[in-house]
Formats: sequence, C-alpha cells, structure tokens
Amino acid sequence: MTEKAPFDTDIVTLTRFVLEEGRKAKGTGEMTQLLNSLCTAVKAISSAVRKAGIAQLYGIAGSTNVTGDQVKKLDILSNDLVINMLKSSYSTCVLVSEEDTNAIIVEPEKRGKYIVCFDPLDGSSNIDCLVSIGTIFGIYKKKTSSEPSEAYALQPGRDLVAAGYALYGSATMLVLAIESGVNCFMLDPAIGEFILVDRDVKIKKKGNIYSINEGYAKDFDPAITEYIQRKKFPPDNSAPYGARYVGSMVADVHRTLVYGGIFIYPANKRSPSGKLRLLYECNPMAFIMEKAGGVATTGKEAILDIIPTDIHQRAPVIMGSPDDVQELLEIYKEHEGK
Ligand code: F6P
Repeated sequence: MTEKAPFDTDIVTLTRFVLEEGRKAKGTGEMTQLLNSLCTAVKAISSAVRKAGIAQLYGIAGSTNVTGDQVKKLDILSNDLVINMLKSSYSTCVLVSEEDTNAIIVEPEKRGKYIVCFDPLDGSSNIDCLVSIGTIFGIYKKKTSSEPSEAYALQPGRDLVAAGYALYGSATMLVLAIESGVNCFMLDPAIGEFILVDRDVKIKKKGNIYSINEGYAKDFDPAITEYIQRKKFPPDNSAPYGARYVGSMVADVHRTLVYGGIFIYPANKRSPSGKLRLLYECNPMAFIMEKAGGVATTGKEAILDIIPTDIHQRAPVIMGSPDDVQELLEIYKEHEGK
C-alpha cells in the first residue's frame, strides 16, 4: 500500500494559477504582476478586518494605535492598500475607487496598460458589527495611447478582461473570473497563500433562495412585488423559497453563486437606478455570474451591455440562476404590456 502524503505538496496557489494562465495566453506578465499585488492588498485587508494585528491597529487603549496616531477607518485603510499596491505593480494607468470622487491617474513612471475599478471594502453597514464584507474589482485594458483620463474607465462590462471579489467571511475567499471561467481560492492563514479550491465554478440552473432588502417593499415596482409574492406563495403549490439577505453584496452574491437562487437590488420609486454602483459593484459581479452560467440584468438589459457615462453611476441589479432570473424577466414583460 502506498502511503498517503500528510499534505498536498503540489498546491495551486493564486500566484501559480495566474502565472500558468499568463503563460497559456502568451501574455507580457503585466496581468500577473497586477493580480499578485492586488492579492497582497487583499491579504492585508483580510488581516485588518479580522483585527489580526489588533495591538498595531488599536494599541491597548482603544481608538489610537501604539504610535499614538488616530486609527484609520477600515474602509480608508483598505482603499490606501489597494491603491498603493496597484500603483506599485507598474501595470495600471487609471484607477476608479468607490472611496474617491475622481479617477486616480497613475504617475507616468509607474504606468501600465490596465484600468482597475474597485470597491476596497464593500458592505459599509456591516463593517462595524463584524458581519461579512468584501472587496470587489474589475479590470479593463486601455484602448488608446492618448493621455490617461477618467474616460479610460467608461467601458462597458463586456470589455472586462478579469473581475473578482474577496469575501471576508467565516474564511477569506478570493473568487476570480477570467476569460476561461470562474475559480475560487481560499486563504490558508498558515502559509499566507490563496489556494485553488474550486475550478471552473458553475451556478445552479435554478435555486430556492431569494435575496432582496424587503424593507423597501413599499417602493418596489409591481413586477418585483409580484415575483416576491410568487416566491412566498407559489401558485403551483411548490415549496416556497427561503429568504436570505446579508446586506453585503459580496456575501449575498457569493451565496447565490454557491447555492443558486436570485439576488436583487432593484430600482425603486425613491432611487430610479437602484443603489449599487455599475463600475465596481454591478459589472464585476455580472461578469462573474455570466462566466459561471448565470444571468445578470437590470430587468431591461444585460448589465454588461450598459455604456457608462459616469464613473460612480448606479444600476438596478437582478442576478443569479438562469431559470430564476428568467422567471422575473417574464413578469417584467407581462407588466410592460399593462
Ligand atoms: O453598496 C454597498 C452595500 O453595502 C452593498 O454591499 C449591499 O448589497 C447594499 O449596500 C445594501 O444596501 P441596503 O442596506 O439598502 O440593503
């Protein structure tokens, strides 16, 4: 009998995966540098979110750290980490962050060919109460050799070359979508590496969970109201759907990807474009969903087809298992005719 090795000695780390994909694509290595740097930022954010260096973050006294400085809020710290790591990867030229009003133009000597749109720490209402939060990113390639400007980032989601998110949940996971599909990497804190745990992930054709902030039901449009009613009181007497809503997009989308079902942040009477931001929330998640065999739409058009006009614009979101999203789209069509 051959003895089983006590642990895998040929693991696929995120770095190895990205290097191998880069080789296959005969790339220049710039994307590898970019993702490696981003990965470092994510590890540092994960550590801060988990208060792993609590003495450094807070000192023992509270809101000031050991050097007496006021502690940076986690979202600001995360933003600084992502920006600094991306700039020092020498692979980016324009950065769009949820935290910054204007696009960041990378200094000429550090420029490369990629544009990154990101939300450094998404799920703001959950940060202070220790509920799962995440980092979201979408990566585009520059299309011209003109002087880099904000306009570089106004590309439709269809043109994304890669997108992903990190979920700081019961474990830290990084989900990366590239041309060939969606792959999941779990952070192994023992060695500080992201390890490939799920290759080419696909979403279920139909799930049994719906996810929406039902507190805003008063302002929903009639199609959403009818859909939710059908999930609670199925007209065909099938089992009702379960309801889950974390309130952190990364957690709600990740659950949808893993278990199937539907995630909705609709437009409503008070916010006609919904709440979630197109460039660094909707598009990266829509790219991941489509690569996993799911659907992502506003109810009227595919999210990835929207041509952005503003870096911080919002879009309504319906995404998840193809059959579930299709059912809602059919209700939308019926209501259009009314
Ligand atoms: O945009 C930030 C965010 O926290 C998302 O992560 C989340 O999906 C959404 O807002 C929750 O919004 P609400 O509290 O209105 O349900």
